[in-house]
Amino acid sequence: MINLDERYSLEAHVADGGLAVPSSGASTDLRQRLAAGLQRLQGDRQQPDSMLGWIDQPTRTLDALADHQAVLRQAFPDVTDVVVLGIGGSALGMLAVHDAFKQHHETKPQLHVVDNVDPDVIQPLMDGLDPRHTVVNVVSKSGTTAETMAAYMLFEAWLHRHLGAEKGDRHIVVTTDPEAGILRPMAQSRGLITFDIPPSVGGRYSVLTPVGVVPSILMGYDVQGMAEGAASVNEDVAALGVDSLPARLALTHEMLRPLGLNMVVMMPYSSRLRRLSDWFVQLWAESLGKRLDRNGGIVHAGTTPIPASGTTDQHAQVQLFNEGPNDKWTVFIKLAEAAHHVVLPEPNDSLQDLAYLGGHRLQDLMNAEQLATAAALANNGRPSVTLTIERLTPATFGALLQTFMWQTALVGELMGIDAFDQPGVEMGKRYTYALMGRPGFESVRDELGLDGDA
Ligand code: PA5
Repeated sequence: MINLDERYSLEAHVADGGLAVPSSGASTDLRQRLAAGLQRLQGDRQQPDSMLGWIDQPTRTLDALADHQAVLRQAFPDVTDVVVLGIGGSALGMLAVHDAFKQHHETKPQLHVVDNVDPDVIQPLMDGLDPRHTVVNVVSKSGTTAETMAAYMLFEAWLHRHLGAEKGDRHIVVTTDPEAGILRPMAQSRGLITFDIPPSVGGRYSVLTPVGVVPSILMGYDVQGMAEGAASVNEDVAALGVDSLPARLALTHEMLRPLGLNMVVMMPYSSRLRRLSDWFVQLWAESLGKRLDRNGGIVHAGTTPIPASGTTDQHAQVQLFNEGPNDKWTVFIKLAEAAHHVVLPEPNDSLQDLAYLGGHRLQDLMNAEQLATAAALANNGRPSVTLTIERLTPATFGALLQTFMWQTALVGELMGIDAFDQPGVEMGKRYTYALMGRPGFESVRDELGLDGDA
C-alpha cells in the first residue's frame, strides 16, 4: 500500500554522504536490536499497563464501529457544527484526518478544533455558532488538562445559557479515560454521552480510538477504511518483522543518526497531508525526546522533527535543508494520483515560454518537483527517502498513521527509552495547576521558584 524508495539515502546518489547500504542491509547488530525491540512490543501489546494498546486499536475500532455510529446518529441526526475541545494528542490526529478528507467528502457539518485557550478564537467561535445544531465533543485522556477543561467550562456554560441545562447536556459528548480524571464522574452523574479512550493508549497514539473516531463519524468520514488501512500495517509488521516498512524507516533513522543527522523533516507533497506532518511532529517529539533511558540513565535522547510541505517549502525551508547545517534527513510522501485529474492547458501565443508545461497533469508537476527536491538535496549531500501511495484514501491514510506510530515506537526501542510517557509535558501541566491555584498543588508552586512573581 505504501512504497518505499531509498535511492536518495544511498551514497551512490548522495554526494559525500549517505548510506553504503539500504535499510535491508543494516548491520546484524542493528537488525538484532530492532528484532528484540519488535519482539518486546509484540509480546507486551496485550498487557493492560503496557501503553501498547494502539497496536490492536484498529481492530477494536472495527469491532465497535457499528455501535458508535448507531449512538451518534441517533443522538445527532441534524448537526451543522462539530466542536472538538482537546489539545496535543487529543486534537492533532483529528486535525490531520479532517485536513485529508474535508474537501473530498459531501459533508454537511463544519469541524472546529479548539486546541488552544485563545480568547480571540473561542469567543468569535461561540458567537458564530448555532447551539441548537452544534455538538461539543470534549476530549481528554487524563480528564484534567487545564486548557481543555477551561474550553469545556466555556462551551458547557454557552450551551446551558442558550438551551437550558438539560437540553444543553444533550449536545455534549465526552471522550475520556474509563476511570481517571474529572470528566468521567461528571459525565456519569449527568448521564452524558461518553466514549472510552482505552487506558493502554496514550494521547498521541490515540487517533484511531474514539478520540478521532467520534468526530470522524459525526463528520461522515470513512473510519472503517482508515482502520482497515492501519490494520494492514500490523499484518505487514507481523509477517515481515524487521523488513516491514516501519522497521525499515526505523533502521534508516538509526543508520543516519551516527552521521550527525539528528533532525527528521516530514515533507508530504500534498496539501491534504500538511496536518499529518503536525501530527507526526508531536508523535515523534513527545515520544522520543527523553531525559532518561529505560534504566534511569541520563541520556537526553531524541531527534528533532521538522514539518514541511511540498511544493510550498521549496520556496522557503528547502534553502536551509539544501545549504544549511548538514544535520537533517527528509521523509517525502507523494501520491501517484491526486483525487482530481487536472491537465494544464496548452498556452496561448503570448505564453509560449510556458509551452513546456502545457498538456502535463498538475500531479506530474507536483511529482517532478518532489523528485527534483530529493535529487537537489542528494547533490548537496543530504539524504532522503520517499514514500509513495497510489492515492490518498482512508485506507492509505490509516496505513500512514499506523506506519509512523510503529516507526516511532521502534526508534524508541532502539534508543532504549520509553516512547509512551511524557514527563516533560506533565511537569508543565503540574506547574500550570500550581500557578492557577488548583488545590493539592501548593507545594509544586515552591518548585517554580518564582518568589511571588506570578
Ligand atoms: O500525547 C500525549 O499524551 C499528550 O500530548 C496529550 O494528548 C495532551 O497533553 C492532552 O492530554 P489529555 O488528553 O489528557 O488532555
